Amino acid sequence: MIGQKNPTTIATSSLSWEEVRAQFNLTPDYLHLGASQFIASHPKPVREAIAHYRRLLDENPVLCTQELENAEMQKVREAAARYLGMNEPDYIAMTDSTTMGLGTIYSGLNLQPGQEVLTTVHDHYSQHEAIRLATRRSGGSYRKIALYDRLNHVAEYEMVDRLVREVRPETRVVGITWVHSSTGLKTPVAQIAQALAELNRNRDEADRVLLLVDGVHGFGIERETLPELGCDFFIAGCHKWLYGPRGTGLVAATREAWQTVSPVIPTFTDAMDIITEEAERPDHMDGKQMTPGGFHSLEHRWALRAAFEFMESLGREQVCQRVHELNRQCKEGLAAMPHVVLHTPLDEALSSGITSFEVRGYNTDEVIEALQKEKIISTKAPYQYYQYARFTPGIINTPEEVDRALAAVWKLR
Ligand SMILES: Cc1ncc(COP(=O)(O)O)c(C=O)c1O
Repeated sequence: MIGQKNPTTIATSSLSWEEVRAQFNLTPDYLHLGASQFIASHPKPVREAIAHYRRLLDENPVLCTQELENAEMQKVREAAARYLGMNEPDYIAMTDSTTMGLGTIYSGLNLQPGQEVLTTVHDHYSQHEAIRLATRRSGGSYRKIALYDRLNHVAEYEMVDRLVREVRPETRVVGITWVHSSTGLKTPVAQIAQALAELNRNRDEADRVLLLVDGVHGFGIERETLPELGCDFFIAGCHKWLYGPRGTGLVAATREAWQTVSPVIPTFTDAMDIITEEAERPDHMDGKQMTPGGFHSLEHRWALRAAFEFMESLGREQVCQRVHELNRQCKEGLAAMPHVVLHTPLDEALSSGITSFEVRGYNTDEVIEALQKEKIISTKAPYQYYQYARFTPGIINTPEEVDRALAAVWKLR
């Protein structure tokens, strides 16, 4: 038997925020105000789980994989389902990233001429490109709309209203982003889902509008479970705010939503055992069958469970409050500076862990460079129309660090 005592059961609860910070090996030479939104540093339980599985794989790759793969992946699905508030772990597909999830689902939908994706101008390249590539291949079309005219006046009802008014008979998918990584705006996913559910009451099952959400910048911060969000497909990487192993992600979907897609890449999960011949294909799709196959970096995939357990041990509510507090401090500090334009709503309901801003007299690269000279890491939003600088304070940061970053921005006046 390959499996040994699993190190992921380390008790991390009741840690102070300083002790949480100490779980990460982030160099103290820099102030890390970009990592949580970009690519994770692994906390101790995740590092230990990866090291544990890596040792087992290196010692006996064949037996370890044969004995552990299905069971460990199922435990990851169970941990993810618990975190997402879903009853059914099999309705989760495992991926390497948000991008892989978006590509897998948009391609798997196989949209035909006469079917369109309604999306917005605010979404990330990964979603836009996944839509473009998939519809070009299958013959469907897409349309992009703006959810608001002016960010500092945006209201939840306006976003819901604009989106729903644009749905046409041919709209099969509405593709949106939970938290925009350009501006940090949080969209009202649950309200949009409710409005689409109303609209779907007059549609046949085959024409139902499916709501697909790139959830990566709410996942690991916000309180809502998947049933509360109410979307059909929830797609996220686990290597940002969840601090999961780099190269992990998931797609969670409802039973009905899974029936609308077919696999793009052959699965390597235990579902492959029942897919030996065309005639034997299951008529019931789920997340296992939609998990792109081939062997992956298994130690990272299996260690993802440790990330869910770590975040749960910190408390979902506590994490949400902490990230919002740090961002509130950051936004209020920036908003008070006459030489800074804040591009993220101050309203907690309309924002999450991303704070976007510009400094008058500097372009964004210059801001990021100037901060880096002060040993402060920030990031630039990689969007065609918005390229703001971003601070993304998360559980790896402290209020003192936010103050230091604000002081560095103040020096740029
Ligand atoms: C909104 C959004 N979606 C998707 C991605 C890509 O994420 P991943 O690296 O998990 O593919 C990013 C990158 O930061 C993003 O900001």
